[in-house]
Amino acid sequence: MEPSDKALVPFVSVDHMMQLIHHIGLEPMLRGLADYIADDFSRWEQFDKTPRVAAHSPEGVIELMPTSDGVSYGFKYVNGHPKNTVDGLQTVTAFGLLADVDTGYPVLLTEMTLLTALRTAATSALVARTLAPAGATTMAMIGNGAQSEFQSRAMQAIAGITHVRLYDIDPTATAKCAANLAGSGLRVTPCTTAEAAMEGAQILTTCTADKAYATILTDNMVGAGVHINAIGGDCPGKTEIAPAILKRGDIFVEYPPQTRIEGDIQQLGADHPVTEIWKVLAGHAPGRTSDKQITIFDSVGFAIEDFSALRYIRDQIEGTTFYHPLDLLADPDDPRDLYGMLDRAAPARYPGALLLRRHSASPANAPAGQMTQSVPPHVATLIKSSMATSTSAREGQRPMPAHPPCGTAITPSPARMTALGKCDHRPSPVSRSMATSVPTISAALLIYRRTGNGPEAGTRGVVFAGSGSTRTRGCTWARFCAVVT
Ligand SMILES: NC(=O)c1ccc[n+]([C@@H]2O[C@H](COP(=O)([O-])OP(=O)(O)OC[C@H]3O[C@@H](n4cnc5c(N)ncnc54)[C@H](O)[C@@H]3O)[C@@H](O)[C@H]2O)c1
Repeated sequence: MEPSDKALVPFVSVDHMMQLIHHIGLEPMLRGLADYIADDFSRWEQFDKTPRVAAHSPEGVIELMPTSDGVSYGFKYVNGHPKNTVDGLQTVTAFGLLADVDTGYPVLLTEMTLLTALRTAATSALVARTLAPAGATTMAMIGNGAQSEFQSRAMQAIAGITHVRLYDIDPTATAKCAANLAGSGLRVTPCTTAEAAMEGAQILTTCTADKAYATILTDNMVGAGVHINAIGGDCPGKTEIAPAILKRGDIFVEYPPQTRIEGDIQQLGADHPVTEIWKVLAGHAPGRTSDKQITIFDSVGFAIEDFSALRYIRDQIEGTTFYHPLDLLADPDDPRDLYGMLDRAAPARYPGALLLRRHSASPANAPAGQMTQSVPPHVATLIKSSMATSTSAREGQRPMPAHPPCGTAITPSPARMTALGKCDHRPSPVSRSMATSVPTISAALLIYRRTGNGPEAGTRGVVFAGSGSTRTRGCTWARFCAVVT
């Protein structure tokens, strides 16, 4: 038997996410995400905050990123394994969940690999719009891997960037990024050194992956009046920016207790001054105060950005087909009878079910005993499930009597069926799946033939017939009657 709506959680697969991005449009989606992030940053103090829970290994890290605003709870699972690309795997993959705090029930499960790239880019661009020098149009994009096109497009959509200058130690990554950005409206310049990429750039984005104290930007490379968007230094022992640059600039962070462990500022003293970026966005702290200033966004990615992204996706998929209802939560008829729910999946009592014939008229007129086709296993399962439903008090309906014992010979007739009772299923996954899997089930006449060597083995069985079906809100109301032949 299939579960009720209480069991189902909207699940956004990678395929759905890709469709949703095309449906909304990449730039509107990046702007929408930035708006949700800005909205949540503006109420920062309402959130439960904790540094993410990180499980480190020699090659990478697996992290859980939870937060809650008291109404909703969200978390993301994310990994970071820089060596993965050598094996054809991604450096970063993720999925996440949003739940209702009041009931604890999940309301969304979604892929977050694409969504992380989008939300990271939206956050970077939101911050750059606030901190970059006025009139910034050129960005150096150092590290041309999975995040790089999203970073570039978000800077274009949100921060006014029109020209990106690309550099990666792997030229094939630069070629890939340049090809992907062709037609985006951005002017794209592939470069062969980091220094060349930085020529004329007001925004310097570092987005490399190396589990090491790397120095992507050395002190002599960075002049006054730039904004550094440092993305890739996001783990203990994984940095990109020379400490001297950090000391020359003003540093903005998401959540200091996490960034001091994971960000580029892990190279500085624990009391080195930093500004929480939410305070700048909310107007509680100054951002850029001079043209000559070096502003540094030491980004590591914080749970509230994922919470905003989850909220955004929940709102965007409502009323669309960009999700699957996922059978994630047990839904016993009696909430305290979890054990009894197991009966729904009990083996069929009549495993040798046979489909007699399709019959569009009243089951009473159906010529019983005329076999035309074996019942495929999935139909047998549906029949078993629907019998379980029809004999239960599910959803407050009058229970349908169990079929008479095998051996009770009766003639199918409307009167007899009435006597046995009818079961008007409300819209339920059972009837929905029947409608999907067996479109003509409402006019089917079915017989179960008992098998095996037990005392009930033989040819007698239950005729199971359905009649009448209407569609309501995408569900089928199916009426089933059981008679014995
Ligand atoms: N701050 C955040 O919120 C956030 C979110 C997602 C990812 N990240 C981090 O961003 C980084 C990039 O992620 P990705 O998914 O694009 O990884 P990726 O592995 O797909 O790409 C990384 C690229 O960096 C290049 N690279 C490595 N060392 C370099 C160097 N010294 N100079 C120039 N290029 C170099 C690699 O060749 C590769 O093309 C990772 O470190 C990841 O952990 C941060």
